[in-house]
Amino acid sequence: MKVLVVGGGGREHAIIKKIKENKEVSEIYALPGNGGIAADATCVDIGAKDIDGIVKFAVENKIDYAIVAPDDPLVLGAVDALEEKGIPCFGPRANAAIIEGSKVFSKDLMKKYGIPTAAYEVFTDMDAALEYLDSAPIPTVIKADGLALGKGVVIAETREAAKDAVKSMMQDKVFGKSGDRVVIEEFLTGPEVSVLSFTDGNVVVPMISSMDHKRAGDNDTGLNTGGMGTVAPNPYYTAEIAEICMRTIFKPTIDAMNAEGRAFKGCLYFGLMLTPNGPKVIEYNCRFGDPETQVVLPLLESDLLTVMRAVTDGKLAETEVKFSNKHACCVVMASKGYPTAYEKGFELTIPTDISDKVYVAGAAIKDGKLVTNGGRVLGATEVADTLPNAIKAAYGLVDKIHFENAYYRHDIGARALKAKEC
Ligand code: AMP
Ligand code: GLY
Repeated sequence: MKVLVVGGGGREHAIIKKIKENKEVSEIYALPGNGGIAADATCVDIGAKDIDGIVKFAVENKIDYAIVAPDDPLVLGAVDALEEKGIPCFGPRANAAIIEGSKVFSKDLMKKYGIPTAAYEVFTDMDAALEYLDSAPIPTVIKADGLALGKGVVIAETREAAKDAVKSMMQDKVFGKSGDRVVIEEFLTGPEVSVLSFTDGNVVVPMISSMDHKRAGDNDTGLNTGGMGTVAPNPYYTAEIAEICMRTIFKPTIDAMNAEGRAFKGCLYFGLMLTPNGPKVIEYNCRFGDPETQVVLPLLESDLLTVMRAVTDGKLAETEVKFSNKHACCVVMASKGYPTAYEKGFELTIPTDISDKVYVAGAAIKDGKLVTNGGRVLGATEVADTLPNAIKAAYGLVDKIHFENAYYRHDIGARALKAKEC
């Protein structure tokens, strides 16, 4: 079976390593993949947003199954285009990927169907947004409507900062058309939990919960990043909270998408905040999270490709999705300076005895050597019986990996450990 994976980061590397466990798989192509993924798949230089190129490659190479991992191609309709050519896919069609592609869509969906989320207002007119901010409660949260490389959310502690954020999105167009509309929403508090789920549009099966570490610096300081590390499971996500989320958020979301004629098939990511008033949705993503995937998939005991194909075929209810009761920790090693300016091209050495546990996000092959080629370079994941052991072991991996200007947080998992104490 020939499988194609669209994307080229740590998340895609984790998916590919897991797919490889299925004996039916004869060939995996990554579009575009990266220098590290090249050890596990055939990388093809076709960009993840090049929908025509992806479809042409898939048809010419008689691909049996395609997994579209990143948000951009999903929102651009990669799954629709592949399905038109008869290629079965894992991932939502564009009309369902909009749940991530437009914050206005997702907020309106939640309001219409009574799914708990922060109170909000939508603005298409900048002056109206600025006027609203004169009396809005502070802190407040400003969100660009469309995709913005994970940077479209500003938590404003003052009115001035809130107005500056609105101006940069709506007037200076820092996120292009994504800022044509903005959502201004209530600031919520509480621990955050990421819950990825499989859904075939009929049933929703949550995966093991996880905790991201979004800020660049130790103790959650510095700029927001794509994610500097993760642990799973998330200790705040108790069985009782899981039950509330299924009843008030997960199932209602699947039903709402169906009612709108936008059946969601694929991985639906629930970004949740456990507020004093119960769990609320902070954001939906129409895909696997990165680096959540790097801790969730190593804990999946069922065969990933079998589960994915069940999602495609609408047979998820009959398919076992089992997670181990161990703990996983992923520490992201980045280039110094990330998420702003950083240098790349440094030689990267990953000892072969640990390469199974390393998911490469930003690397290239130059003159036969693996070199750094991105902000987030890799994620090192260990699984253990307890969270402290998983954390210790993940940092043990980090100690064995070398490249110049490597930067990583030293406290991945510390927040989760504190939660366990209380
Ligand atoms: P996002 O890019 O949507 O994941 O948002 C980035 C981060 O901003 C989230 O992980 C939260 O920490 C924070 N955030 C987003 N919306 C809110 C909100 N309404 N209240 C408080 N924090 C928020
Ligand atoms: N780690 C957050 C995301 O994938 O959006």
